[in-house]
Amino acid sequence: MRLLFVLALSAFATVALASSRADDEHSHAQPQLVRITDMALDLRVDFATRTLQGEVVHTLAWAEPKANGPAELVLDTRDLAIERVQARVGEGRWQRAAFTLGEPDEILGRRLVISLPGRVEAVRIRYRTSPEASGLQWMPPALTATGRQPLLFSQSQAIHARSWVPLQDTPSVRFTYSARVRTPAGLMALMSADNRPDAQPTGDYRFRMPQPIPSYLLAIAVGDFRFKPLSPRAGIWAEAPVLDRAVAEFADTEAMIAATEALYGPYRWERYDLLILPASFPYGGMENPRLSFITPTVIVGDKSLVSLIAHELAHSWSGNLVTNASWKDFWLNEGFTSYVENRIVEQVFGAEQAAMENVVAQAGLREALRSLPPERQVLALPATPGGDPEDATNDVAYIKGQWFLIFLEQRFGREVFDPFLRKWFDEHAFKSVTTDDFLAFLRRELLAKHPGKVSDAEVAAWIAGPGLPDTAVPATSARLEAVDAARTRWLEGQTTARGIDTSRWITQEWVHFLEGLPADISAQQLLEIDGAFRLTGTANGEIAQRWYPITVRAGYFEARPALAQFLRKVGRRKLILPIYRALAEQSEGDRAFARQVFQQAAPGYHPITRASVQALLDARAP
Ligand code: BES
Ligand code: ZN
Repeated sequence: MRLLFVLALSAFATVALASSRADDEHSHAQPQLVRITDMALDLRVDFATRTLQGEVVHTLAWAEPKANGPAELVLDTRDLAIERVQARVGEGRWQRAAFTLGEPDEILGRRLVISLPGRVEAVRIRYRTSPEASGLQWMPPALTATGRQPLLFSQSQAIHARSWVPLQDTPSVRFTYSARVRTPAGLMALMSADNRPDAQPTGDYRFRMPQPIPSYLLAIAVGDFRFKPLSPRAGIWAEAPVLDRAVAEFADTEAMIAATEALYGPYRWERYDLLILPASFPYGGMENPRLSFITPTVIVGDKSLVSLIAHELAHSWSGNLVTNASWKDFWLNEGFTSYVENRIVEQVFGAEQAAMENVVAQAGLREALRSLPPERQVLALPATPGGDPEDATNDVAYIKGQWFLIFLEQRFGREVFDPFLRKWFDEHAFKSVTTDDFLAFLRRELLAKHPGKVSDAEVAAWIAGPGLPDTAVPATSARLEAVDAARTRWLEGQTTARGIDTSRWITQEWVHFLEGLPADISAQQLLEIDGAFRLTGTANGEIAQRWYPITVRAGYFEARPALAQFLRKVGRRKLILPIYRALAEQSEGDRAFARQVFQQAAPGYHPITRASVQALLDARAP
């Protein structure tokens, strides 16, 4: 066994030598030669044509600025119409530059190769986006909360920034940016930048982001957004009908910022605001700096899902401040963030809440591991040229990554581990990092200083071994054990469903209850549960995501109308994909039903969601 771990470690070291883990196979850019250091955007937002039109000026830093002769700049694009490229050849003097667009690649888009007269300090590109831009969702008024104004939002992670700005779309490059954005009057524009709480909807906005960020954190949203403060440095932007409910649900945001600062040092981004998007937002949240984008599906009234805010806030340290250099090391973003998230939850909402969340998450990881090939069960992923970086978006990066840090915390104790993590953030602030960087830091700052506590082989099993290492200690929760006991009593006929006291159950208890139901549960049993607890039609997406697949597998058709309504209303991938998958796997009739609902729902889905549902339904076609 031990030998195997050592082998895994040396295999890992060999791979690391062959090509640097900092290389990003998902970008055409050549950051060893030249880097964008600042970006100035000037864009018009046109809802009629569903396009952004305008210009970007990239300031460049060349590795060898003095070298003579022509030079080349390679940028990433996807579905962009490039209208003109200019090079700055002197103070305020611009000269046209020739350019070519490479062959389109399904995942990477097209490379934009610009021929420059020399190593110029700046280039200016006039361009427009496509109405199908993968990183933008254009919503007609009917799909918004007010129903009165259209709405636009971006989702750049992982590699969709290139669909709305031609740039070096790799997390190994960081730049500051400024922007002028013009919109129809009456609509508010917001960016991952210095949004002003007192901004008026004039239709002409200017932004500045003085902290350098990677491209995937570039973000814009335009809509009928209103603001309410939560504290002097935090607040909420949302459409008017959801604003007050969001303010109540996320009232603890300032307490969470303070808790994180106490653990890991000052919040370095000035303001922290939330933007509540329509339910078609394809993710739970997106950590756009200074302005996390948030799904409204976590506003359930009892704060049981506010760990999402803790998560996106935590990215202000892990991810936005210290950034994975390529998507192979996605766990450095998400595993660290899941760890910090849970520490925040423990601090603000108590140890039992944090424990419940860990039990649920760890069950999800075990489930995910059952269907992942061994090479995708490791934290440090192998390069996948031609692959989709979003394939790395699974519980291995998030929960196995978090669990590894919990393992270290348990072995070294918080008095040692907390300052260690803080130092990791401090020493790598505003830098992009690889797993190798972390391992070197870990050996130097923890293993070597506290010898005998954790071996290299134990570390290697976490980083490069498949599955869960023997050193993983499962989380436990008294409240969830009580749920287990209640479920067993019901299944064994010692109580009716109504006889279970669920009056104080929160989301995690319902989720745990449902996940523990036997696979062969009958429609009759579901009828009893539904009669007692009214799960069909629930507004809680975490419950719906578990309940509806169970109803599909058991043939409990009473849930179908509400299931279809849920799929039409919500576009968050994590919540709806399990339901589509259950339908696709069930029978030809269920597949047909899924296709029909998808057809109705698709116009309201984000392009990212649409693509994933389509792929799932295609893959299961007979
Ligand atoms: N950064 C991610 C979202 C993401 C990952 C978008 C990869 C595109 C590609 C974000 O921080 C996140 O992890 N969101 C989770 C919520 C979280 C509480 C686990 C989500 O959307 O479900
Ligand atoms: Zn995250």
